[in-house]
Amino acid sequence: MGRDVFYITTPIYYPNDVPHIGHAYNAVATDFIARYHRLRGERVFHLTGTDEHGLKLQRAAEAAGMDPKTWVDEMEPRWREVWARLDIANDDYIRTTEPRHEAAVQQILQAVYDNGREDIYIGHYEGLYCVACEAYYTEDDLVRGNCPIHDRPVELLREENYFFRLSAYADRLLEYYEGTPSAIEPEVRRNEVLSLIQGGLQDFSISRTSFRWGVPLPWDPRHVCYVWFDALTNYITAAGYGSDPERFARLWPADIHLIGKDILRFHAVYWPAMLMAAGVEPPSQVWAHGYILVGGEKMSKTKLTGIHPFQLVDHFGVDSYRYYFMREIQFGQDGSFSWESMVDRHNADLANGLGNLASRVLAMLGSYFEGAVPEPTVEGAAADLPEVAAGAATRFQEHMEAVGLTPALGAVWDIVSRANRYLVEKEPWALAKDEERRGEVASILYAAAETLRILAVLISPIMPSAAGRLWEQLGMGDPLAAQRLPKAAGWGQLAPGTKTVKGESLFPRLDS
Ligand code: MSP
Repeated sequence: MGRDVFYITTPIYYPNDVPHIGHAYNAVATDFIARYHRLRGERVFHLTGTDEHGLKLQRAAEAAGMDPKTWVDEMEPRWREVWARLDIANDDYIRTTEPRHEAAVQQILQAVYDNGREDIYIGHYEGLYCVACEAYYTEDDLVRGNCPIHDRPVELLREENYFFRLSAYADRLLEYYEGTPSAIEPEVRRNEVLSLIQGGLQDFSISRTSFRWGVPLPWDPRHVCYVWFDALTNYITAAGYGSDPERFARLWPADIHLIGKDILRFHAVYWPAMLMAAGVEPPSQVWAHGYILVGGEKMSKTKLTGIHPFQLVDHFGVDSYRYYFMREIQFGQDGSFSWESMVDRHNADLANGLGNLASRVLAMLGSYFEGAVPEPTVEGAAADLPEVAAGAATRFQEHMEAVGLTPALGAVWDIVSRANRYLVEKEPWALAKDEERRGEVASILYAAAETLRILAVLISPIMPSAAGRLWEQLGMGDPLAAQRLPKAAGWGQLAPGTKTVKGESLFPRLDS
């Protein structure tokens, strides 16, 4: 059996603190893509989890006066509760402290150790180390003497380490990326990785003796495996590496590792080289998005700019939350979060846009047709709505296939704008006063309601909860989860006679 599952991953997050909206940005984008692929009728495996080993975690636990395992057991649910509230529908959740993962880490390490090329060897390491990154830096990397990512002092560390011979993989990596241009997206990140590899690769250290909180190396248990070999391996653990070959053949290589650009080097250089050394195919694609900025800087807990997702969800609701980040910030670029822009987006696109369209149409169906979808009898009454909807649905799918999350939503909102303008042009509320024009009113409202049905389908990957409510208000019998693109976007599937209900407003207006 070959690959028959769309496999997408988030990074595994460090549970040394609670999630902030930067982590949630990554989680929502992954979920949006995963739900879209389900809507296309594909089998999907969406993996997320927590990265629970390493010095950073051990220190956080010490600071809290706990042993590391008790500490991560306490922190990890605080991540899951956020994903549940944000409607993240992951298919698996991996913790690197699980036995299945520790077994897989030992397997890949042993496979590389035994590959006959001495890709793992012992040596000494001395370097400038950032605990927050769990990485060594050179003098040149530092900014004003501090870690370039966290802007915090680095420490000088020296110890006996095993190393991975990354330097031997530069040519193979270049060859691989030249032959598979889609393996790193967007293009600016691909170029960054290519020049990094062309600049020469240094071996990296894969073990530590200075602390115990990690997976012991199978051939030398005095050492514990050091973060990146441990963390990256989660992607194959969950796919059945070393435990379930049949499942592994169906899932691997992953279709997309969706990551933030700060961990590009590890995913696009270390990881494929590790896999090549172990005789495993590299992932099909690494997609690196930008940062959520707050006050012009990458938001982070260490800089005390962290905003917990619940602070926003409590006010805006989960649908508005998910929509805002994917729509406001061009996916792939950095973008600033601000409360004001979130209120504006909510009111313009959701309350006045989609919400208003739905409430007007459902209210008129209620007043003029006792809620029942009328028969469209007047030819041409739908104007260009069917073509606009069809064109936008096609563009939506094209963008989603290319992970163009922001323009994909733009395409859907072309339908919303056109439909609202259509109602203003047709004025069904004025025509309804004239009994002789009832056929026209019926045909206009049919077209508007049919547009809402298509919109409910198209927004379901980004706003699953609002889509479900709209679907119910439209009185649709088949479950929304059973709809499939492209078929479900085809015009004319709303059956006359369907009983709609006005229901509660989808997106109440918010004060600024
Ligand atoms: N544990 C590692 C990843 C190992 S993957 C095998 C890690 N964890 S993290 O919790 O620090 O970050 C997880 C993800 O959140 C990363 O993709 C990172 O880019 C993303 N973000 C953290 N802050 C962010 C913003 N302010 N904006 C957007 N994404 C950000 O790194």
